[in-house]
Amino acid sequence: MDIKDKVIIITGASSGIGEATALKLSKEGAKVVLSARRKEKLTDLKKIIEDQGGHALVVAADVTKKADMEKLVAKTLEVYGTIDAIINNAGLMPLSYVKNLKTDEWEQMVDVNIKGVLNGVAAVLPTLMKNKKGHIINISSTAAYRYFPGGAVYCATKAAVKMFSEGLRQELAPKMGIRVTSIEPGAVATNLMDTITDEDILGQVSKMKDMTKLESEDIAEAIYYALMQPSRVNINDVYIMPTEQQ
Ligand SMILES: NC(=O)c1ccc[n+]([C@@H]2O[C@H](COP(=O)([O-])OP(=O)(O)OC[C@H]3O[C@@H](n4cnc5c(N)ncnc54)[C@H](OP(=O)(O)O)[C@@H]3O)[C@@H](O)[C@H]2O)c1
Repeated sequence: MDIKDKVIIITGASSGIGEATALKLSKEGAKVVLSARRKEKLTDLKKIIEDQGGHALVVAADVTKKADMEKLVAKTLEVYGTIDAIINNAGLMPLSYVKNLKTDEWEQMVDVNIKGVLNGVAAVLPTLMKNKKGHIINISSTAAYRYFPGGAVYCATKAAVKMFSEGLRQELAPKMGIRVTSIEPGAVATNLMDTITDEDILGQVSKMKDMTKLESEDIAEAIYYALMQPSRVNINDVYIMPTEQQ
């Protein structure tokens, strides 16, 4: 698929993988809808994209709020008239050991990483079903398959996203032509770990600092690869790890 002029919503576009993906897809000619809670970051990104000759729309939204996601879709339709794809990328990773009972952080991860994806899908689906085409890309993780210290809840949320993506694909792709892809990165150099508060984990995480991680741009390339396939091809999963990661 030529992604020129395709309308692509990206959640979590204010930093990391979402930001790099917005830059990549807009360079390839897509009209990107930048969403996250930090509006000033999105506005700065929109300016960079427009200075490079691209098209971007900013709609601040919290993925945990259904009304925000509905507003995001309504604004996209008002400005661009359709939706070709959504990248459900917003996520949090406040790792902690279960014994430390950081139950508020467990709930945040369930709300953003799982319910946020469900809310994104629910908001765009009526448009994609009407169009009988479209692409839903969910950012899962290698954590869907591999537990790591402090990751019991985070890994569970990413396993949920992976399995939800497969269920979606089976329900939507064969009958409606709506493609579904789960992207599963290993460690990527972003600010994702900034939300960790568990002292037991912070010590362990610093040991990973010496490893050469993936860059956000590597994941943006994987997303572009999934999007640009001809309509007969559904890339189900992209499992991508740093060469140095165990
Ligand atoms: N980095 C890695 O090693 C890695 C590996 C595998 C998978 N992933 C996944 O990749 C995705 C992107 O993470 P990243 O590494 O790029 O980290 P990041 O730079 O921290 O980006 C996270 C994004 O999520 C947004 N977000 C958080 N809560 C939100 C909410 N309630 N509503 C809307 N947006 C929200 C943030 O924007 P605001 O704060 O402005 O709302 C931010 O743009 C996540 O789903 C993460 O689990 C990352």
